[in-house]
Amino acid sequence: MIELAPSILSADFARLGEQVRAACEGGASVIHVDIMDGHFVPNLTIGPPVVKSLRQVTKLPLDCHLMIENPDEFIPAFADAGADWISVHQEACRHLNRTLHLIKSHDCLAGVVINPATPVSTLEEVLGIVDYVLVMSVNPGFGGQKFIPTTLHKMRRLVEIRSQRALSYRIEVDGGVALDTVSDVVRAGGEILVAGNAVFGHGDPSKNADALLKAAIEAALQKV
Ligand code: DX5
Ligand code: ZN
Repeated sequence: MIELAPSILSADFARLGEQVRAACEGGASVIHVDIMDGHFVPNLTIGPPVVKSLRQVTKLPLDCHLMIENPDEFIPAFADAGADWISVHQEACRHLNRTLHLIKSHDCLAGVVINPATPVSTLEEVLGIVDYVLVMSVNPGFGGQKFIPTTLHKMRRLVEIRSQRALSYRIEVDGGVALDTVSDVVRAGGEILVAGNAVFGHGDPSKNADALLKAAIEAALQKV
């Protein structure tokens, strides 16, 4: 099943509620929230209070992508603020198994994220634990970057492993997903599509979300 997860990173933060509602009208079914600490990635964004405010304006699952050095210290606060899904970077976690179980202990779905330079093989021991794997198709830190096509083979590999090992994780893709890249992503196995700039960067977020989701569903139908 294909789902669109608009990233609020490219939204107008002064009108966040309105922008989230517009994306929802366009067919978004998850809201992607990018958390950056200025250490793991060279940028700063938001923390639990904004997640708490978002919780008041939407019933959609809040997908918190933690691009931070010490996720264990903040997972409880994001869960309390209303996060439904929490993902952590493989590269940031010294005790990844423990961190994923910590997320689950807060009744959130647990995701693991890999940067463009990190191979799928590093996830071998956690694929049976996670609810989703997030493949970064740009280097994390900023919206509006160019899609890196050499990440596509990782989505294909995750599909392959899932069927070989009879696992059930879902495959999320983040970075540079737009009308010109979405069909490649869906054909490679991307199921939860994060899009910031393509939804909020210009024009009407509702129309942008609708067009992107339609293109994704069309690519998925062609795949069958
Ligand atoms: C990048 C973030 C992304 C970003 C995607 O570090 O994790 O979620 O907002 O933005 P676009 O879709 O503009 O590449
Ligand atoms: Zn993200």
